[in-house]
Amino acid sequence: MCGIIGIVGTHSVQERLIDSLKRLEYRGYDSAGVAGVTDGRVVRRRAAGKIRALEDVLAESPLEATVGIGHTRWATHGAPTTRNAHPQEAGRVTLVHNGIIENYAELREALKARGRTFESDTDTEVIASLIDFELSSGKPPLEALKAALDQLTGAYAIGVLIDGEDSLVMGARKGSPLVVGYGDGEMFIGSDALAVGPFTSRIAYLEEGDYVAIDHNQAQIFNEAGHRVERDVRQVPASAALVEKGNYRHFMEKEIHDQPDACQHTLSAYIDPTTGKVTAPGGVDLAAVTRIQIVACGTASYAGAIGRYLFESLAGLPCDVEVASEFRYRQPAMTPGTLAIAVSQSGETADTLAALRWCKAQGLMTAAVVNVHESTMAREADVLFPTHAGPEIGVASTKAFTSQVAALIALAVAAAAARGRIDAVEEARISKLLMEAPRLIAEATQLEDDIRALAPDLARARDILYLGRGAMYPLALEGALKLKEISYIHAEGYAAGELKHGPIALIEEATPVIVIAPTDPLFEKTLSNMSEVAARGGPIVLITDAQGARHAPPGARVIVGPSCDPLLAPLVYAPPIQLLAYYVAVQKGADVDQPRNLAKSVTVE
Ligand code: F6R
Repeated sequence: MCGIIGIVGTHSVQERLIDSLKRLEYRGYDSAGVAGVTDGRVVRRRAAGKIRALEDVLAESPLEATVGIGHTRWATHGAPTTRNAHPQEAGRVTLVHNGIIENYAELREALKARGRTFESDTDTEVIASLIDFELSSGKPPLEALKAALDQLTGAYAIGVLIDGEDSLVMGARKGSPLVVGYGDGEMFIGSDALAVGPFTSRIAYLEEGDYVAIDHNQAQIFNEAGHRVERDVRQVPASAALVEKGNYRHFMEKEIHDQPDACQHTLSAYIDPTTGKVTAPGGVDLAAVTRIQIVACGTASYAGAIGRYLFESLAGLPCDVEVASEFRYRQPAMTPGTLAIAVSQSGETADTLAALRWCKAQGLMTAAVVNVHESTMAREADVLFPTHAGPEIGVASTKAFTSQVAALIALAVAAAAARGRIDAVEEARISKLLMEAPRLIAEATQLEDDIRALAPDLARARDILYLGRGAMYPLALEGALKLKEISYIHAEGYAAGELKHGPIALIEEATPVIVIAPTDPLFEKTLSNMSEVAARGGPIVLITDAQGARHAPPGARVIVGPSCDPLLAPLVYAPPIQLLAYYVAVQKGADVDQPRNLAKSVTVE
C-alpha cells in the first residue's frame, strides 16, 4: 500500500508534493520520489529511506515544476532501493503506482521481445513501458493509457506524467483507491482525501476501473468501458480526511471495499514477489516450532480458525485455536516448542492480552497478529506479525479480519517452507497465487448489487443459518456473527456436516440458510447437505463460483463469486458475507457503524 499524489498547479509543486507525501507516509515509507515537468520535460528525484532522505536530495537539486507527481513506497516487487523507488520511467512516461500487477512478468517478457529494456525490478516500470509503447504507436496519452490498462491484471492505482505534456496528470484505479481534488485553477489526484487535504476540500472518489486526466481546470473521468462519466464532487473537511467515508454511506461499507488494499499491504510484509519467498517477520525460526496455539476473541478467533486449517494441512504443524476468555482460565496443558499467537485488530482486547501474558509466563514464545502496531499486545509479544489494514472505524470488523486471514495464510506457507513440507518451486507458486488475492477480493466486492437484492427478504427472517465446510466453516461462523451484531437477526454458523445432528430440526420455510461453498474438494459433500435443506423447504442462498452455481438446487438464490484456488477462498468469499450482513442491516435501518451494546475495543473482561 503506497501513497500517491499528483498536482497540476499554478505555482511550484515541490513543497506541496512533500507535504502530501508526509501525510501519506502511513501507507509506506521505505523509499520516496517526486517528478515534475520542467521546460516540457519530466525530471525526477528519488531516494531510498524515509521522506527526509528525499528532502535532502531536493535540497541539493530542487524540482522546478508546477506540475508533478509524488510517491511514498511500501516495497512489493524489488528491494527498497533508489533504483526501485517511484516514479519509474520509460521513454516519455513517468509513473507512480500502488498495488500489484500480477501479470508483470509476462508483460515484461513481451515488451523485452519488442526490444524494450528495464532498469528496475518493479512491476511499475512495466506499466510505464506499456504506456510508452502505446504512445510510440501514435496514440494520444489517454488512449495509450487505456490501451495499457486493458492489458493489466491486478489491483492498482497509478499517477502518470508524459514528456511534452505541460499540464497533464493522468490517473487510474482498480482495487486500490484514488481521489480527484478540485482546486482554483489547480487540480489534484491522491491516494485518499488526506493526500489532497491541504490543497482542497472538494473531492471526487474514482470508482472501480475509472481512469482520469486532469489539467488546470478540469478532470475528464472515464469508466472501465472507456465512457466519459461524472463522479460526485463532495466537500471533505481536511480534519475529517483521515477518517472519512468517501463515497460510502457507512465506514463498514468503505472498509469492505478497502480490503484489496489492506490484504495486499499485509501480504507485502510476508512475501517477496520477486523471489517468491515467504517469511515470518521478526526472524522467527518456524522450523523449530512444534505446535501452534492461537488465542483470540470474536471475529479474530474465526480468522485464527481459518489459519488452523492451513497450519495443519500445508505445514503439518499441530494447531489449536481457542477463544481467549476460556483459554485464560482453563490452565491448558502447553508443550515446549509451542508458539502462542494472539490475533487481534486492536491489540488491546483484555481476554486476548491476558491469554498472551499467560503463555509468556509459561515460558512459551509469543507472537501477535495485530493491526495497531503500537498496542499493548504488539509491544508485549516476543514478535509482531503485523496486519496492515489501516484504521478500522466500523465496529463490525471487516478489513481487519481478511488482513488477519492473509497474514495467517502467509505464515502457514512460511512454516511449510521452513519445515521442508514444500520446496522453493511450490513456495513461489503459492506466493504468486496469494498475490492474486487483492484482485479477486476486488472482484468479489463487485457483487454488491446482487447481494443488496437479497436483503429485503432476509431482513424479514427471525433466524438465519450459515453453513460451510473446511475453511468455509469458520467463514460461516463469521457470517453469522456479522449478521447478528449489526442487523440483530439471530444467526448461527454450522459445519455443514453437523446439520443432520440437530440443527436440521430448525429448517422450515421461514428460516433462510446461507451456504458458503465455492468449488473445492468438499463441494459434493456440501451439495448433499444443501439438498437436505431443500428437501425440508428451507430457502437457500448459495454463495459459490460459476462451476458451483451449475449444481444449485432448484429455487435456490445464487450469488456467483470469482473462481479461485481453495487456498484463497476464505479471503475472496469474505466480502460477500460481509456485504450480506451490511445490506440486511441497512434494510432494517440499523446503526451499522455503531451497533447497540458493542464497543470497538473490548478492554474489559
Ligand atoms: C466483530 C468484532 C469482534 C472483535 C473482537 C476482538 O465484528 O469486531 O468480535 O473481533 O472483539 O477484537 P480485537 O480483534 O480487537 O481483539
